[in-house]
Amino acid sequence: MASLFASLGRSLIKLLIVLPVIIGLSISSTAMAAQWDAETLTVPAGSGGQQVTFSESEIKSASKLFKSNCATCHNQGVTKTNQNVGLDLEALSLASPPRDNVDGLVDFLKNPMSYDGEYSIADTHPGISSSDVYVQMRSLNDDDLRLIAGYILTAEKVQGDQWGGGKIYF
Ligand code: HEC
Repeated sequence: MASLFASLGRSLIKLLIVLPVIIGLSISSTAMAAQWDAETLTVPAGSGGQQVTFSESEIKSASKLFKSNCATCHNQGVTKTNQNVGLDLEALSLASPPRDNVDGLVDFLKNPMSYDGEYSIADTHPGISSSDVYVQMRSLNDDDLRLIAGYILTAEKVQGDQWGGGKIYF
């Protein structure tokens, strides 16, 4: 009888250990699911109010393109060599022309311009127009550029303040 209670007690203790783990796992998987919901994956397509929805796998492959081509300077959406011009949504929206939409970003990656839109920075920033110098840009087609734009525009929604947070702009 005593041993029955002892083994019941042990099972109860095991249950008490396992239960929080199961609950914890199910909570974190719901959080992950929410991270990739349609709202997160939907971003402005252009300046006219149209929207475009990416798939989770598109954004994940875009993150690899971003890491290999852009992260040396823009890791986590910050610009190492010019802390004033981040890749967070607010900084992008205040650029001229605004870059907080897919077309605006693709256009920038073809012909990079200064933040105020006054002059070309193709000599110092990777772009398709200067892919003779920035040879890695030769391997990126229009679809890749759109994916990279999608990655940048969803990053803040997925990563929160870890992306480009807390900078000052001019
Ligand atoms: C050699 C460093 C470097 C690399 C590599 C680089 N950038 Fe930049 N990027 C900068 C700098 C510096 C600026 C600010 C330029 C300015 O306005 O004078 C900038 C600005 C930008 C902006 C404008 C941000 C805004 O708020 O308007 C975008 C968008 C951008 N980069 C995207 C990219 C992407 C995408 C890649 C990869 C294909 C990339 N950059 C690679 C240095 C870099």
